[in-house]
Amino acid sequence: MSDAPRAPKPALRPLLPADTARLADIFCAAIEILAEEDYSEAQRAAWMGVSDDTESFRKKLAAGLTLVATIAGEPVGFATLKGADAIDMLYVHPDQSRAGVATMLVDALEKLAFARGAKKLTTDASDTAKPFFLGRGYIPRTRNVASVGDEWLANTTMTKDAAIGEPPTRTLQ
Ligand SMILES: CC(C)(COP(=O)(O)OP(=O)(O)OC[C@H]1O[C@@H](n2cnc3c(N)ncnc32)[C@H](O)[C@@H]1OP(=O)(O)O)[C@@H](O)C(=O)NCCC(=O)NCCS
Repeated sequence: MSDAPRAPKPALRPLLPADTARLADIFCAAIEILAEEDYSEAQRAAWMGVSDDTESFRKKLAAGLTLVATIAGEPVGFATLKGADAIDMLYVHPDQSRAGVATMLVDALEKLAFARGAKKLTTDASDTAKPFFLGRGYIPRTRNVASVGDEWLANTTMTKDAAIGEPPTRTLQ
């Protein structure tokens, strides 16, 4: 048996008023480092600029249903469900990248949205997040360019239909 310490499992909780500054840090670190291969420095700077105005970033987080993933009580990622059926924000701190944090967040938002009756979930996925959403069964629909600050950033609108339910149990005649 290995003596290696097990990575602590993230927990989920709703957004708290005191989270804004830490989530802005996660937002910027995720863009700066994880999106580096997909967007230029100028594009990433414009994207990070969305969190410059703390009050408008706080409002953006609070406008939807924001879930925060924590490890040992510290936020490490967050995701927002906007309205009934749109995943609006999904950001994970680079120190916790590829550790299943986004999976945990989106699992929870999908369950919630579909349980509330959403027929389909939509997201405008960054090029960085596209493989993540493809792996979860989201289908690319349209390619877009969004104006952010002085830059244009490409993304892809992707959708996932609600599960149709379990197939009927076959009964033997
Ligand atoms: C996209 C993002 C949220 C993924 O977060 P994460 O916690 O690392 O994702 P997970 O660990 O849950 O990944 C689950 C699976 O998705 C796929 N995946 C995730 N990131 C990927 C990447 N950069 N490239 C290829 N596949 C990726 C993999 O199949 C991964 O499973 P694996 O690690 O066992 O191979 C994170 O990279 C991020 O914050 N990116 C920068 C900000 C951004 O673009 N946000 C999206 C805005 S729409």
